[in-house]
Formats: sequence, structure tokens, C-alpha cells
Amino acid sequence: MSAIWGSICCSLLRLLRRLVPICYRMLCDYLYNLSEIFSKFYSNPECKVIGSDKETSRLLLCEATAVDMRKCFNLLGITPIYKI
Ligand SMILES: *[C@@H]1O[C@H](CO)[C@@H](O)[C@H](O)[C@H]1NC(C)=O
Repeated sequence: MSAIWGSICCSLLRLLRRLVPICYRMLCDYLYNLSEIFSKFYSNPECKVIGSDKETSRLLLCEATAVDMRKCFNLLGITPIYKI
């Protein structure tokens, strides 16, 4: 490998080392925000899920949120739990 390529690779690695923690922080932020928004939705009596006339769409929203959260947890290296 020529010296110029070695230098480019070193620079890219240094950049990645700086970007990875930023990505993790953004992912944590996103997950935290999503959790808060979902909690507000789920605990709002006007947004009843089971037995509502909008049950199907609300269940799909819950499932989409769960899928998204699981992906974020996996990216962070955390095994998500399915029940509390
Ligand atoms: C999280 O929410 C805060 C406050 O609303 C917002 O400023 C920030 O951009 C959000 N972060 C992400 C990654 O969505």
C-alpha cells in the first residue's frame, strides 16, 4: 500500500472514531424521544388501543414502534426485552 493510501486510511479511521460516539448518542436520543412519545400516546385515555374503533391502525402503530425500538436496541448492542 502506498504511503498516500495509508495516510487516507488513517484519516478515515480517525474520522470514524469520532463519528461513532456521535451516532450512538443520536441513536440514544432518538430512542429516548420515541419512548417518551410512545408513553404519552399509550397512557393517553383518548388513545385507547384495545377495543377502540381504530384498534387495527393503533396496533400497527404500536408494532411499528416496537420494531423500530428493537432495531435501535440491536444497533446499540442491547438485547431488547419483549415483556416487562
Ligand atoms: C429529541 O427531542 C429533542 C427535543 O424535542 C430534539 O431537540 C432532538 O432533535 C430529538 N433528537 C432526535 C435524535 O430525534
